[in-house]
Amino acid sequence: MSAHAGRRRSRLVVVSNRLPVALKRAGRSWQVEAGSGGLVSALLPVLRNRGGTWIGWAGAPGPTREFSRALAAADRQSGYRLAAVALDAREVEDFYLGFSNEVIWPLFHDLPSRCNFDPRYWATYQSVNRKYAKAVARRARPGDFVWVHDYHLMNVAAELRRLGCRSRLAFFLHIPFPSPDVFLKLPWRSRILDALLEFDLIGLQTARDRRNFLACVEALGRSARATRIGHFPIGIDYNSFLRAAATPAVEARAKELHRLLPNRKLVLGIDRLDYTKGITLRLRAFQDLLERHPAMRGRVSLIQVVVPSREEIPEYHRMKTEIEQLVGRINGAFARPGGWVPVWYEYRSLTRMDLLAYYRAADIALITPLKDGMNLVAKEYCACSIEEDCVLILSEFAGAAEQLAGGALLVNPYDVRGVAEAIRSAHRMPEAERLARMRGLRRSIRREDVYRWVDSFLRAARARSLEEFPASRPSSPAPADGLPI
Ligand code: G6P
Repeated sequence: MSAHAGRRRSRLVVVSNRLPVALKRAGRSWQVEAGSGGLVSALLPVLRNRGGTWIGWAGAPGPTREFSRALAAADRQSGYRLAAVALDAREVEDFYLGFSNEVIWPLFHDLPSRCNFDPRYWATYQSVNRKYAKAVARRARPGDFVWVHDYHLMNVAAELRRLGCRSRLAFFLHIPFPSPDVFLKLPWRSRILDALLEFDLIGLQTARDRRNFLACVEALGRSARATRIGHFPIGIDYNSFLRAAATPAVEARAKELHRLLPNRKLVLGIDRLDYTKGITLRLRAFQDLLERHPAMRGRVSLIQVVVPSREEIPEYHRMKTEIEQLVGRINGAFARPGGWVPVWYEYRSLTRMDLLAYYRAADIALITPLKDGMNLVAKEYCACSIEEDCVLILSEFAGAAEQLAGGALLVNPYDVRGVAEAIRSAHRMPEAERLARMRGLRRSIRREDVYRWVDSFLRAARARSLEEFPASRPSSPAPADGLPI
């Protein structure tokens, strides 16, 4: 009998607020649609190879018997287990909409004045995190590797340790981590920080987030000695975007867009409805451009797509109205009958085909969040820009700016005049410069794709000391599914 016989491989347990599937009602039963995001495609090979479970909320009330049956059927297809955490209406209200999205979301995006520090929210955040931890504890075997994602679940390691769990626990924060000036406003700052320090590894998006985190640890007199903290900028599934964007159907659709909006450059903004995305300031910048440079009128159109999101939260609802009023004001001032309309506005979820066609058709992408963990739209746009004859304008406060500074035109999204001038510069940029910048951007996005991200995170989780893993240096591109996690 070999020395390794009987030794079980360490499995992967992924925990995120939402499961990577969408549940749709089909009569009295539920149908499960596989998720298509980059995170899912990157983790899938690891889950299939090592075996594992993905634990999360199904985004719908349940689980009823039909609901569980649908998930079990999806298990068989996906090759890994799906386990649903059930949330009741009050939990959705206080944990998801409340603490996660009315406290942590605005605070971590440097917008403390938008926070609603309701003490009820905190109690439910704790109890729901306990619920997730129990779901993990029921399924994780000793030696499994548990990877928790995002700000909804910062207490899970602390709860798991309380339940006696000895697995290795890692956390990745997809959104920014604020500086002490902002973080210290959180009434539960010490509790959250102590809970985070129960993880063995914490991954943040950028070097700035990591610095901020360490500064908060110091400001609160804590020690991060038992936890390794690294930054791992998330990437996209570059090749899958490239392949899909290259299909004749997408190309035809992109050409059709130029036929419908002829003789002008197309500027594209695509965002989830969110005040962090800087949509209203962006519209003001576009308005400023048209007001001050009459020659630009008729020569440029802004396609602004807003994807519905978190509409139950009053701030989001107010913002939608504000965007629509501004679009109306700009079009009212500049549109000409039968001719040019400055802003083409859509409020809907795009099909993948429409998304790819917009990416391919746009001459300029205008991505100006006030603050963003990474911003994958910026990377997807570049991946789909097969001709490389286009320009990315990017907020310096998007995590992606750390990586894309060399090729993008970086702007301060609060500087309306500066953003207007950046659109003008992009419009006038010589072809050779456009091509050179976009080529460089695409090379970097291709190299640092989501598979490499998973790979470097799992390597870091394996390493014993901070020095052993190069958080900021690129790691060798070994396949993610071959790693002994
Ligand atoms: C951000 C967060 C994700 C979240 C997504 C959509 O990207 O980092 O964790 O899933 O927004 O928001 P939603 O509230 O609809 O899950």
